[in-house]
Amino acid sequence: MTTHHDNTTGPLAPPIWIGPLKVDPPILQAPMAGFTNFPFRQIVRQFGGAGLLATEMVNAKGFVWLDEQEATHPDRLWGVADEPRPLAVQIWDNDPPTLAKVGRRLATEYQVSVVDINFGCPVRQVTQKAHSGSYLLSQPERMGQIIEQVVAACAPTPVTAKIRLGCARDKINATDIAQVVEGSGAAALTVHGRTAADMFRGEADWEMISAIKPYLKKIPLIGNGDLDTPEKVVRAFQNFDVDGVMIARASLNKPWLFAHSAAALRGEPIPAEPSLEEQRQLMMQHYHLVCDRFGVQKGTVLMRKYACCYAQGRHGARDFRKHVAKVTTREEFHQVVETFFPRELQPTPV
Ligand SMILES: Cc1cc2nc3c(=O)[nH]c(=O)nc-3n(C[C@H](O)[C@H](O)[C@H](O)COP(=O)(O)O)c2cc1C
Repeated sequence: MTTHHDNTTGPLAPPIWIGPLKVDPPILQAPMAGFTNFPFRQIVRQFGGAGLLATEMVNAKGFVWLDEQEATHPDRLWGVADEPRPLAVQIWDNDPPTLAKVGRRLATEYQVSVVDINFGCPVRQVTQKAHSGSYLLSQPERMGQIIEQVVAACAPTPVTAKIRLGCARDKINATDIAQVVEGSGAAALTVHGRTAADMFRGEADWEMISAIKPYLKKIPLIGNGDLDTPEKVVRAFQNFDVDGVMIARASLNKPWLFAHSAAALRGEPIPAEPSLEEQRQLMMQHYHLVCDRFGVQKGTVLMRKYACCYAQGRHGARDFRKHVAKVTTREEFHQVVETFFPRELQPTPV
C-alpha cells in the first residue's frame, strides 16, 4: 500500500504554515540586500522548489519619506506589486509605528504574502547608526513592541521575524528572543546560526538553531546558514529540529538549488547540475531581465556581481571575474562572456 502525502517534499519535510500561508516545500529563498531583486526572483521562480521567496530588506523610514515626497517607491519594491505569490517583503527599522505603517501598506496595497522583519543585519550602518537589525537582539522588549504593532497593523497578513543567535558569542539569547517573537504574535521565526559579531565567519551552528525548537509552541522554526547542496538540505531536516530551511548565498551560484533540494527531500535522485553551456545561457537570460528592469547601463554594472556568482567555483572563474568586473556596455558583457565564461573541459585528444 502506498501512503499518500499531500505535500511535494515527502514526510521528511512536510509543508509548513506561516499563518494562513502554506509553504510547500518548506525551503525558503533568503532576503539578500543588493541581490534578491525582481529579476533574481524570476530566475528562482523559473526553477521552482522555493516555497517562499523574499525581497531585499527595505528601510521603513525610507519608504515613509518617499511616500511623503510623493516620490516613486524604493527600487527594492520593484516588481513586488505584480509578481506571482507567495512573496515576503522584508522591512527594517527600530521604530514600531513606522514599521507598522509600512507593514500595513505592504499588506493591504501590495498584498504581499508575508511581512518579514529584519533582526539579523550586522552591518554598522544598520546596527550602530540606526539601532536596527541585529542591534535589536539586545533589546527584546523593543522587539516585542515592534512585532506586536506590526502584527496588529498587517492582520490577517502574517508577520515573521529573522534573527541571528545573538549579538555576540558571549551574548547568545536566541531562545529568549524566540519566546518574545512567538509571544508577540509572529507567525514564523527564521534563525541564521551565527551571531552578529561573527558576520559570516566560522560555521553556522545548527545545534543552537535546533535548541530553540522546544521553546516554540505554535510557530514554525526555519533554520538558515551554509546550506549549499541538496544533500546538506536533506541532512538539515534529518539531523536538526527545524520545520523549514532558508538558503541565501548558494542560490546566487546555483539558483536551481531549491528545486534540486526539493527533489532530494522527496527521495528522488538529485538531478544533474546544468551544463556550463546551460549555465551560460541562464546567466544571459538573467542579464536580459536585469537590463529590462534597470536599463542597459545600470543593468550591466549590476550584472557584474551576479556574473561572478554564476562563475564561482567553475574552472576559469578567476579570469572571467577579472574581466567581467570592468564591463560597462552590452557589447563588452557579451564579449567577456563569450571569451571567458567557464566552459566544459574538453577531453584532450589522444
Ligand atoms: C549579500 C548578502 C546580503 C544579505 N542581505 C540580507 C537582508 O537584506 N536581510 C536579511 O535578513 N539577511 C540578509 N543576508 C543574510 C542572509 O539572508 C542569510 O541569513 C545568510 O547569508 C546565511 O545564509 P547562507 O549561509 O545560506 O548564505 C544577506 C546575506 C548576504 C550574503
